[in-house]
Amino acid sequence: MTATPLSAKACAAALPLGTIDDSVPLYLASHYWWAYVHPKAVKLFERQWLVNLILWGNYARLRDAALTELGCCLPGRTLQVACVYGDLTNRLGRRAASGGGAVDVIDVLPIQLKNLREKLAADAPVRLLAMDSTDLKLPESSYDRALIFFLLHEQPHHYRERTMSEVLRVVKPGGKIVIVDYALPHWWHPLRYLWRPVLAKLEPFALDLWRQPIVDWLPAASAKGRLRNESFFGGLYQKVVMTR
Ligand SMILES: C[S@@+](CC[C@H](N)C(=O)[O-])C[C@H]1O[C@@H](n2cnc3c(N)ncnc32)[C@H](O)[C@@H]1O
Repeated sequence: MTATPLSAKACAAALPLGTIDDSVPLYLASHYWWAYVHPKAVKLFERQWLVNLILWGNYARLRDAALTELGCCLPGRTLQVACVYGDLTNRLGRRAASGGGAVDVIDVLPIQLKNLREKLAADAPVRLLAMDSTDLKLPESSYDRALIFFLLHEQPHHYRERTMSEVLRVVKPGGKIVIVDYALPHWWHPLRYLWRPVLAKLEPFALDLWRQPIVDWLPAASAKGRLRNESFFGGLYQKVVMTR
């Protein structure tokens, strides 16, 4: 898969309806076809209120926590690892524009990149790149910061590790990496008991993030001493901030 920026037209032509090609990781094709791969899934889930519902009303809070952490104006180059439903990327793009910077969004699914292209403001300084997070065709130390929003819980362990190695490789020393994802809720949280079987059924790798804190399996290349963790909504969500 190449690192060529995709125009809306190229995206549209990239993946015929319902087709899953070899470049789609198996975990996406088998566990997430209903959320990201199938064209009807994209149509259904590209509703911010619905994603907000799935996040128990926390979409805006988590999105804003990530954006605030990155900064209000973002000069230089920002990497968003994987598309996100809702308005996160438009907001990120505005922050980049006000700092004279630019955003690259990578995603392995052309249908997701096409969807993002359609909802992005025409003047957003955002490039869309068809790429797997575990094999970034990007030069090392080429980004000032990176955002990974609810991607890691979807990936099997070895993919997750590889994604983090790649992100650490392409972010410059001193650059910030912001991760927002699931975590183990506190013992008193009703969702600790009610949400577990739902995740086990629908998002089988998500419970890995309940069992093991992200900081415990980060590749050795990460600066473990420069990590910060904040939890949200009784611990069900976490933001991990890492300075490369
Ligand atoms: C960021 S995650 C989930 C975001 C969150 N649930 C939301 O949309 O609000 C979903 C995206 O990750 C992408 N993705 C999953 N595995 C990937 C990989 N290995 N490389 C690049 N993108 C990937 C999917 O194609 C999808 O667009």
